[in-house]
Amino acid sequence: MEAFGTALFAIDPSSASNSPPNDPTAMLNKIHPKRPDWYEELYALVTETCMKPYEAEIAGYKLQLFANLSGKANRILELGIGTGPNLKYYANEPGVQVFGVDPNMKMEKYARAAAEGAGLPQTNFTFKQAVAEALPLGDASVDAIVGTLVLCSVKDVELTLQEIMRVLKPGGMYVFVEHVAAEDGTIRRFVQGILDPLQQIVADGCHLTRKTGNVIAEAGFSTVELHQAFLSTASIVNPHVYGIAHK
Ligand SMILES: C[S@@+](CC[C@H](N)C(=O)[O-])C[C@H]1O[C@@H](n2cnc3c(N)ncnc32)[C@H](O)[C@@H]1O
Repeated sequence: MEAFGTALFAIDPSSASNSPPNDPTAMLNKIHPKRPDWYEELYALVTETCMKPYEAEIAGYKLQLFANLSGKANRILELGIGTGPNLKYYANEPGVQVFGVDPNMKMEKYARAAAEGAGLPQTNFTFKQAVAEALPLGDASVDAIVGTLVLCSVKDVELTLQEIMRVLKPGGMYVFVEHVAAEDGTIRRFVQGILDPLQQIVADGCHLTRKTGNVIAEAGFSTVELHQAFLSTASIVNPHVYGIAHK
């Protein structure tokens, strides 16, 4: 992994074509300024412990979805990797190298444990503090990008999708699961509108009312396969969209 990490970070600032368009550290500080330690620790702990029923319910979907990566993706970037609940689905193939980014450093210990549990050697796993709006990777440097429950939390969804397109190799895959706004005019959508400001406070910037499926569909991928699901364990945080897009 060292080689992978080194290759990704060895970006010559003078070589504009392979450099991130924005300085990742400056963007991290601007987009996701440091929260108090206790808040980041608590959010990481809550994510690790309280998401288990949700993860059990969504396991069947994830098994099918991540099977698409099998044998086709050697270098995989996960956006907003959090505690690493997806690693067990895609990181257990020999030689796979995983690069996880998340602005919350308190997630790292859980993600590393998840990587170990998935059988991914620590040398093949890099955790980097960064935001998805300015990825610390070169152009066309990964085979696949994974993102689950993260476009709800980024500051700028369009900019994130531009970064996904930049960093993916031609033909590379973007595999996603996201919760989105309920249909306009429904009671669920009404309640989401009321709870949205509170959700952003308690869940570190998570929005309930984004039409993320539409944004992914219009981001310029050559193909987008998009499905919808309702998960009983996610309550008001429904529906979900999931699928796979090719650059
Ligand atoms: C709801 S959690 C989901 C974590 C994990 N992907 C999962 O499925 O459990 C949202 C994650 O996005 C991260 N996050 C927030 N803002 C971000 C940004 N601008 N770029 C990348 N990740 C971000 C949070 O720190 C958190 O780990």
